[in-house]
Amino acid sequence: MSQLSLAVELAGLGLRNPTMNAAGVLGMSSYQLKRLYESGAGAVVTKSLGRQPRNGHPNPTIVFVEGGVINSMGLPNPSAEYFRDEIKRLKAENIPVVASFFAASIEDFTYLASILTDAGADALEINCSCPNVGREKCMLEADRESLEKVTKAVREASSLPVFVKLTPNVANIVEGAKIAEENGADGITAVNTLKALAVDIDLRKPILSNIIGGLSGPALKPVALRCVWELFENIEIPIIGCGGVSYWRDAVEFLLCGASAIQIGTALMDHGVELFKEVNEGIRRYLEENGFRGVKDIVGLAHET
Ligand SMILES: Cc1cc2nc3c(=O)[nH]c(=O)nc-3n(C[C@H](O)[C@H](O)[C@H](O)COP(=O)(O)O)c2cc1C
Repeated sequence: MSQLSLAVELAGLGLRNPTMNAAGVLGMSSYQLKRLYESGAGAVVTKSLGRQPRNGHPNPTIVFVEGGVINSMGLPNPSAEYFRDEIKRLKAENIPVVASFFAASIEDFTYLASILTDAGADALEINCSCPNVGREKCMLEADRESLEKVTKAVREASSLPVFVKLTPNVANIVEGAKIAEENGADGITAVNTLKALAVDIDLRKPILSNIIGGLSGPALKPVALRCVWELFENIEIPIIGCGGVSYWRDAVEFLLCGASAIQIGTALMDHGVELFKEVNEGIRRYLEENGFRGVKDIVGLAHET
């Protein structure tokens, strides 16, 4: 019998393996999230939830491009209030739940953190990074000051592990991560989508109704890996890698660059939920064949000279 285990620990959150879905992809209901867990995810992440229900942007909100997709969903969600019962349903089955949320004011961040905590979530993920909602509406694409205030407020409102999800649309991702770390974040999720645009040459117009959207999928992976690499060299808290994981090899690349866990979004649309099993089996094989005993053994290994 092999001693090898895929289990990981993220700021006190113990998971059977290092994989999760990325917020917003197949996470709209407890039914979908349960299916992801049954397919092998180590934890499930909710769609980003707000204080009020939101319809998001009008169609078209998603376009397939070379190497990935560009979406401008605009954070459609049924509200955190509504989702409380969905979280309770998942917790009744002992499924680890990361509740993702966003808000437009500190008061709303505090409110959302406490109701999601009371609902029984195992960790919180602050979405500080969606490129698809105007600054006037949400504290997203967060500037330094908002990041500091939001992290502090959520930290004070909840005793759960708090992960701050960052945008790659900045010159220096380390700056934001350090602010989050200094203000009580327990982990950084890196990254959200990269601002992008697609054009219809027959209509001679941008394809998305919102014009600009966020690029995800394989084309995002090298950028996300670079972000994880820089974060690992500069912060102490765990990093959850996200961006373009489509095969087990991608997951191993993120772990080697310094991620302690990974999230999968766009690839679930192409490969289906079975991907979690494939990724976990691939990681297990890689660890076995290279003489490692667990995931932790390879986190950040590419930094060693
Ligand atoms: C259709 C779609 C909806 C998304 N919705 C959210 C969301 O609600 N909250 C969030 O933090 N990120 C959201 N994202 C970003 C993903 O969570 C992830 O950060 C990004 O897609 C990169 O990972 P991937 O390349 O594996 O998809 C969304 C992405 C897509 C494609």
